[in-house]
Amino acid sequence: MPRPRVLIFNDGYRWEDLADIPGDDLDVTCVPGGTRKQLLEQIADYDAYVPCLRIVVDKDVLDRAKRLKVIASQATGTDHLDLKLIEQRGIQLFTLKYDRELLDNITTTAELAWGLLMCCARKLPECFDASRQGYWGRHQFAGIQLNGKTLGIVGVGRLGTMMVQYGNAFRMRVLGYDPHPKILPPGVQLVSSIEELLAQSDFVSLHVHLTDETRNLLNAERLAKMKPGASIINTSRGGLIDETALIREMESGRIAAAGLDIIDGEWLEDKYNHPLIAYSRRNPRLYITPHVGGTSPDAVRMTARHNFQKVVRYFLEHPIR
Ligand code: GLV
Repeated sequence: MPRPRVLIFNDGYRWEDLADIPGDDLDVTCVPGGTRKQLLEQIADYDAYVPCLRIVVDKDVLDRAKRLKVIASQATGTDHLDLKLIEQRGIQLFTLKYDRELLDNITTTAELAWGLLMCCARKLPECFDASRQGYWGRHQFAGIQLNGKTLGIVGVGRLGTMMVQYGNAFRMRVLGYDPHPKILPPGVQLVSSIEELLAQSDFVSLHVHLTDETRNLLNAERLAKMKPGASIINTSRGGLIDETALIREMESGRIAAAGLDIIDGEWLEDKYNHPLIAYSRRNPRLYITPHVGGTSPDAVRMTARHNFQKVVRYFLEHPIR
């Protein structure tokens, strides 16, 4: 019987990390750091594809993917996938979006969000740069004490809940905005509009999926109404924020600092000239990390194994003839 061929474009984990999963019945090719060009050249030969977040699975890719039956994405976000077209082509899509039991044990993204918040509060990257030069400007780098400040969490789901707990541990007043609240943790006061949250919060952290409903959630009008001197943390997706308006509000000083783990269009080849990346070279209070939220080796191993097991199960139930 032919073995299903699986293509993995992985970032950040080694194939050996998954090799103890019973995948002997699969013919697996793993391409660490693969490019879009390589994907377009190879995808026609595979029955399943495990994508990375850097390359959009769009019409060009799907048009070439003549024998593709499964896409198993090791992420909760889906903006790197043309969902409509994948459905139209009858391709089975797996993501981590609803795998709450697994995800509850993965805290790396919330931890990074907290790290970015600490950078906004304490100017840590500037402090490191200064001390490397032997410069000891203690008062120049005075930061903000979190105790008593207000943390606004947009989206009080899995990651938002972790942020509520961190905010409580740092003695902050924690507000939450969530139009579809499920289980609310203790220690958060829900407000009825995002405007109310933005007007009161010293730090705003976003923890919602990017959808048609949430695209541009922090639009120009809302950004202009944030509490003066506030900071924004975004470890979700760049499309949640109007990036042009963010730059404007940072220039005016209304938004003092921003910590972002993502930018809109992270799959662009030329990220150096992306407006936010370019602006971060002019404004040291814009801290951008290259989408590393979920990349600790233990988190990656757990999600990669979980994801790959779905592929194994799929082909057990739908053998290739
Ligand atoms: C990471 O960004 C994810 O969507 O899981």
